[in-house]
Amino acid sequence: MSTNIVWHEASIAKEERHKKNKHRSFILWFTGLSASGKSSVANAFAHTLFERGNQTYVLDGDNIRHGLNNDLGFTEEDRKENIRRIGEVAKLFVDSGQIVLTAFISPYRADRSLVRELVEEGDFLEVYVKCSVEECEKRDPKGLYKKARNEEIKNFTGISAPYEEPINPEIILDTEQYSIEQCVEQLTAILLEKGLI
Ligand code: PPS
Repeated sequence: MSTNIVWHEASIAKEERHKKNKHRSFILWFTGLSASGKSSVANAFAHTLFERGNQTYVLDGDNIRHGLNNDLGFTEEDRKENIRRIGEVAKLFVDSGQIVLTAFISPYRADRSLVRELVEEGDFLEVYVKCSVEECEKRDPKGLYKKARNEEIKNFTGISAPYEEPINPEIILDTEQYSIEQCVEQLTAILLEKGLI
């Protein structure tokens, strides 16, 4: 823990940004297995928001692990730290007035709960991208499930590491049943109904 550190209040309040942007800022936290469609839905939905004139940004697992979190692997401890850092970054984006979409497996409930507690109530919406491990393994776009089965990758979520399903997520998108476009339509309808966009 750092010492001799003093918090500075922002000179532009979040509420002023909301007024200017004509929408609130919040986190849409996509969680689900590898190949469940988290990134695809998040990126497609970001386009929809962008076209609508909303301020938005996507934080994506593979990309963040190339930079900010390139010192982390896939042990339980490293995943915890991965999600903690992403949570802090997402909070900054919320402060800057963005609708931030995060696409991380985030397999542990406790880690997702910690992020929820980091931000104000209502600013964290858990989006469970639901797809069975059997279907994800069939898709296997990066060949990672095959490697995990051959034990070339250790601690692979759904095969040799756990995935804790959300218990009470705000939104469930079933990518086994619905296309990416249909999931984007569902998301748009839900957020409109909640008055968030
Ligand atoms: S986590 O669990 O939230 O910390 O993972 P995340 O940062 O989202 O990174 C997941 C992507 O890393 C690749 N990959 C693995 N995933 C799961 N388990 C293991 N062992 C692993 N090794 C590498 C994989 O490409 C994941 O991307 P997605 O987009 O989820 O398929």
